[in-house]
Amino acid sequence: LRDTTRKVIITGAPASGKGTQCESIVKNYGLVHISTGDLLRAAVKAETDLGKEAHGYMTTGQLVPDQLVINLVKEKLETDEVKKKGWLLDGFPRTKGQAMAMKALGINPTHVILLNVADEILMSRALGRRLDPETGKIYHIETNPPPSSIADRCIQRDDDQEEKVRNRLNQYHANLLPLCEAYEDLMVSVDGSLPPEIVFQKVDEILSQLSPVDDTPSLFA
Ligand code: AP5
Repeated sequence: LRDTTRKVIITGAPASGKGTQCESIVKNYGLVHISTGDLLRAAVKAETDLGKEAHGYMTTGQLVPDQLVINLVKEKLETDEVKKKGWLLDGFPRTKGQAMAMKALGINPTHVILLNVADEILMSRALGRRLDPETGKIYHIETNPPPSSIADRCIQRDDDQEEKVRNRLNQYHANLLPLCEAYEDLMVSVDGSLPPEIVFQKVDEILSQLSPVDDTPSLFA
């Protein structure tokens, strides 16, 4: 039997549009979306031990220690739903240590997409981002404002402030090269500065064209 389940990593700088593209990917491919940022924010809100530990790093725009995030992702990837539908990892792995841990656990993607966007654009995207806490939908005050019926309930993330975004960008640039090296054979770079629908056309092309890893055991194995 051929395993046609997609296992996708989407990576890119803060505010490069990962979450925005994930919405379309989930709609079109039915993958289970696992965003480490969302999982960590939920843990902080629920005041779990993990949330308490992660909180300080997140509010200053630092990365949370690898082991905390690795355990979180591992737990999610082990669910039956993920095994059946495939996965879409958003914001993980984002350090060499996280990529190495994935490999060591035998968790290998079929597709790796890097959204490329210049830093000046990223800053204005992050500062203008608004989030609907009820649906998780992402908006932007200028380019994609929330409908007036829900505008009042939309919030700004507390790490979307200039100095914190700078920290997040610095962390991103410091970790990019080792991440590219870890997935150099699979990583496809997409121009993420184009409008979301155009970016998705490219993402869709990549996800539909690349043949998923063939897990068929060899007759001679
Ligand atoms: P996380 O939540 O992953 O944040 P991030 O990587 O900084 O990414 P963002 O969520 O900011 O942006 P995005 O790329 O999803 O962009 P979006 O689609 O919203 O992580 C937060 C924190 O958690 C980290 O700082 C760290 O502390 C911790 N953490 C998470 N994962 C970790 C890990 N693996 N290891 C350690 N720590 C970890 O779009 C942004 C805005 O732009 C929106 O307003 C949107 O409307 C707009 N937009 C999107 N696409 C377009 C487009 N094509 N054109 C115009 N506007 C667009």
